Amino acid sequence: MAGTSDAPATGAIPAGQAEEYLVGTLEELPAVGGAVVELGGRRVAVVRDSAGTVHAIDDTCTHANVSLAEGEVIGDTIECWLHGSEFDLNDGYPLSLPATKPVAVHRVRLDGPSIYVTLAD
Ligand code: FES
Repeated sequence: MAGTSDAPATGAIPAGQAEEYLVGTLEELPAVGGAVVELGGRRVAVVRDSAGTVHAIDDTCTHANVSLAEGEVIGDTIECWLHGSEFDLNDGYPLSLPATKPVAVHRVRLDGPSIYVTLAD
């Protein structure tokens, strides 16, 4: 992962469209697991699940201020390492306590090995 990316991947952004960021390549991600990138000052966990699908979610657990990217990926969920809440990587919702609020889910697009992320609002 490049670590930070403040520049959008594309040139001019048409009005009404969100910026898309090139965040790295598939080779830079663990076979199953996550990495953190900063996009416009926002920490985002880019995560490859057990089926090989790449997701992007806000990195900060909604229960406390810890990195979800450091958690264990199980299927298409990621488990917060501190208290064990599992978050669905598809919709960001916690599947177990103590977290009760979802994390934001960002749009991912692959172009060959390149991973692009468009931030949710
Ligand atoms: S900090 Fe994530 S579940 Fe408590």
